[in-house]
Amino acid sequence: MTKRVAVLISGGGSNMVSLLRDMTGDHPCRPCLVVSNVPDARGLAKATDFAVCTAVVDHTTFAKDRAAFEAELQNVLVTAAPDIICLAGFMRILSAGFTAQWQGRMLNIHPSLLPKYRGLHTHQRALDAGDSHHGCTVHEVTAELDGGPILGQARIAIDDGDTPDTLAAKVLPYEHQLYPAVLRRYAAGDHTPIYLGV
Ligand code: GRF
Repeated sequence: MTKRVAVLISGGGSNMVSLLRDMTGDHPCRPCLVVSNVPDARGLAKATDFAVCTAVVDHTTFAKDRAAFEAELQNVLVTAAPDIICLAGFMRILSAGFTAQWQGRMLNIHPSLLPKYRGLHTHQRALDAGDSHHGCTVHEVTAELDGGPILGQARIAIDDGDTPDTLAAKVLPYEHQLYPAVLRRYAAGDHTPIYLGV
């Protein structure tokens, strides 16, 4: 039975594009909705190019009322009835109450080798730490920020002279490989982690 996938974005949606592009043919999933918290997110037009329905839940219209924002987001998602939710460059922290409603059905991609560097500015932090390697992680979303079970990682070497921007540029193509591969396996009920890169 084909699984319905909703993708949540906040920006350009390059990871969303890699997921939409892969969900064809014998893939166990098909996209049912792309939701952005940012009304003019460039990823929304890309979703439309793939003929995928889109929705906006603009967090700024709820002032500081996170619960109201999440209630509206939940309404939109329940209506779309996804089997799996993929956070893909989605830049809002979701509460424990919200994640609990989707636990075991929600994935995220994070640009670090978790558990290293949860949160923001991961590339700078890896450089500041003098790490020899860096990368990205796909994980199940739980109440703990960037803390859920790891479903895949891609690992790259950090080269002399790398900057946060060059690291981001080296990691992003691996994100685009890793996330679709993890979604395929996860949707088939296999949670065995996938490891790419060096
Ligand atoms: C990526 O580095 C991703 O890891 C992070 O947001 C960045 C942009 O993602 N979550 P996208 O191009 O919007 O998918």
